[in-house]
Amino acid sequence: MATIEMPSAYIVTGTTRGIGKALVSEILRRGHWLFSLSRAADAVKGQWRNYHCDLGDPGQVQAVMGRVLDDIPYERCGDAVLINNAGVLTPIGPLDTADCSGIDNALQVNLMAPLRLMALFIGAAGRMRGDRRIINITSGAGRHPYAGWAHYCAAKAAVNMLTRCTALDQRRRSTPVNISALEPGVVATEMQVDIRRADDSDFPDRPRFVRLAESGGLLAPEEVARLILELDAAAQFQSGQIYDLRRVAWLNGRPTIAAEKENG
Ligand SMILES: NC(=O)c1ccc[n+]([C@@H]2O[C@H](COP(=O)([O-])OP(=O)(O)OC[C@H]3O[C@@H](n4cnc5c(N)ncnc54)[C@H](OP(=O)(O)O)[C@@H]3O)[C@@H](O)[C@H]2O)c1
Repeated sequence: MATIEMPSAYIVTGTTRGIGKALVSEILRRGHWLFSLSRAADAVKGQWRNYHCDLGDPGQVQAVMGRVLDDIPYERCGDAVLINNAGVLTPIGPLDTADCSGIDNALQVNLMAPLRLMALFIGAAGRMRGDRRIINITSGAGRHPYAGWAHYCAAKAAVNMLTRCTALDQRRRSTPVNISALEPGVVATEMQVDIRRADDSDFPDRPRFVRLAESGGLLAPEEVARLILELDAAAQFQSGQIYDLRRVAWLNGRPTIAAEKENG
């Protein structure tokens, strides 16, 4: 399939704040259609439609994504892109001290919702006219272990494998969906506030994140959103690959990015 010169349809999760909110502005600024799944109320504004969805509830994920896929005006859209962005880091701390229901919720939001949304998106790919892509927002924590982040690291590592394995499945399809994962770097969002608020006994690496924030080392969510859209438009995300946004390089005004080595 070739990229069609019409606005793309973006489906994005977790758009109330942070990177997701910045993605909303960037996607609309570029004139695309946007279908967001968030805990904000249902709303329609120009080419943006928000669907209220608690991603911690599997029934809602299934039903709401079904509505999204029925509502997309495929005849007026070129490419279709799913960005699994929503994420939860809390509860932070050793497993035996953490609240089990909080961990269940985090695993639903970080792993099970992206998995279900990927499956539904791929299942509807036949309705889409242009290229179909999935970008999973992962984390360096999916490759590097951190004390206090066991469920979060495990979920992001699983998202990386989900990305790689589903991309292999797609290779055997005549019109494969392109599936990649992206680590955004350390970004100035509420998630970093949660990290800095944690207790040192729950998260021993906390001082490093405090120092990074104090030294101005955090990326702005708006910059992250802009880079994601630029790289996607420049067809930089190869299926089955995991990327670290901090590795972006510019060549003749165009962004390029190399995949992480352990992609196999
Ligand atoms: N910030 C970083 O340094 C960093 C680093 C590596 C990876 N990431 C990844 O980047 C992505 C975005 O993170 P962020 O930093 O932008 O985090 P954030 O500011 O905490 O925002 C998280 C978003 O996820 C949504 N969300 C959480 N639980 C939800 C639920 N049950 N149903 C619907 N939406 C839900 C939140 O919505 P509500 O307002 O409804 O809670 C919010 O919009 C995540 O996947 C995260 O793991 C972030």
